Amino acid sequence: MTMMVTGGAGFVGSHFVRAARDAGRRVIVLDDLSGGSPAPLPEGVKLIHGDVGDRALLRSLLREHRASTIVHFAGKIQVGESVRKPGLYFDVNLIRSLSLLEAAREADVKHFIFSSSAAIYGTPDRVPIPETAAARPVNPYGATKLALEHALDGYGVAHGLRWAALRYFNAAGAHPDGTLREAHKPETHLVPLALDAALGAGPPLTVYGADYPTEDGTCIRDYIHVCDLASAHLAALQALEAGRQVGAVNLGTGRGYSVREVLEATAVVLKRPVPHSAGARRAGDPAELVADASRARELFGWTPQRSSLHTIVEDAARSRR
Ligand code: UFG
Repeated sequence: MTMMVTGGAGFVGSHFVRAARDAGRRVIVLDDLSGGSPAPLPEGVKLIHGDVGDRALLRSLLREHRASTIVHFAGKIQVGESVRKPGLYFDVNLIRSLSLLEAAREADVKHFIFSSSAAIYGTPDRVPIPETAAARPVNPYGATKLALEHALDGYGVAHGLRWAALRYFNAAGAHPDGTLREAHKPETHLVPLALDAALGAGPPLTVYGADYPTEDGTCIRDYIHVCDLASAHLAALQALEAGRQVGAVNLGTGRGYSVREVLEATAVVLKRPVPHSAGARRAGDPAELVADASRARELFGWTPQRSSLHTIVEDAARSRR
C-alpha cells in the first residue's frame, strides 16, 4: 500500500517521509517546491513536482500508485501573511485542498491525515487547551485549517473516509543526524531565528512583546520536536488502518516555554549569547498556547520523546552548522 505525502519536501513533511521509510512504508511525494530549498528525500521515494489542486494529475497519480492513504502537509503556514493575503490562504489551504479531497474520493483513498494547527483555537479561554475547546480562529490561516477539518468530517460521514486532523502546536527541532532542517523562506519562526542571530547568520532577534501577563513578560508556546510530530503521524495512521476514526488531535507536550527561556536554552547550547532586543507585540499573538496532549496518548499511545527544550534546540543547532 502506497501513501501519497503532499508537501513531503518541506520541514515537517520531510521528517515524516524519513520516518515512514524507516518504518518500511511505500511513499510518493507531491510538492510544488514553493517552500524554499527542498529537503533531501530518502532513496526509493519518488518526487512529483505538482500542485495539490491539479485534480487530473492527482486522480491519475493516486490511481497509478494505488494509494490508500494521503498525508497532507502542503499549504501556506504564515499567520501574518494570511492576514495580509487572505485570498491566497483560502485558495491554497482550502480550495486546493478540497480539490485534493475530491480526487481522493474518486480514487477511493481510505485514510487521510491532515496538518492542522493550534491556530484553530485563536485566543483560548484557558490553557492547557483540550480538543473540545471552542474553535475561534483569529486569522485566515487558522480559519482555513478549521474549514478543512469540517470538510474532512463531512467526507467521513458521507463517504466513510477515515481521517485525522493533527493540530500542531509549535513545530521545532530537526532530525538528530543533522541532514534535515527547518528552512522556511522567509524564516519567521523563533528557534531558527534565535540560532541564526547567535551564529551571526542573521540579524539580532526582536522579542515580540515583553509585557504579556506571563512570568517573564514574554509569550509562552508549546514546542514540539518535528521527529515527535513524525512519529505521531505514523501512530495516527496505524489507528486509521486498524479501522478506528481519529478526528482532531492536539500534538504538543503540555509544557510551555517563554520566548526568554528559548533564548536562554539557545545560549546554553551554543555557548554564546543570542543578540536580541525587546520590540512591540506582534499582532495576533496570544500570551500562552499550551496543548492538553492527553488525547493523543489515550488514542494511540503516543508521547513525545525528543521534545525537551534543550534537545529541540540542540538538534536544530546541529542542523544549521
Ligand atoms: N517570536 C519573537 N521574535 C521573532 C519570532 C517569534 O519574539 O522574531 C515569538 C512570537 O511572538 C511567539 C513565539 O516567538 O511568541 C513563537 O513564534 P513563532 O513565529 O515561532 O510561532 P507561532 O507561535 O507564531 O506560530 C506557530 C506556527 C503556526 C501555528 C502556531 C500554533 O508557525 O503555524 O505555532 O501554536 F499556528
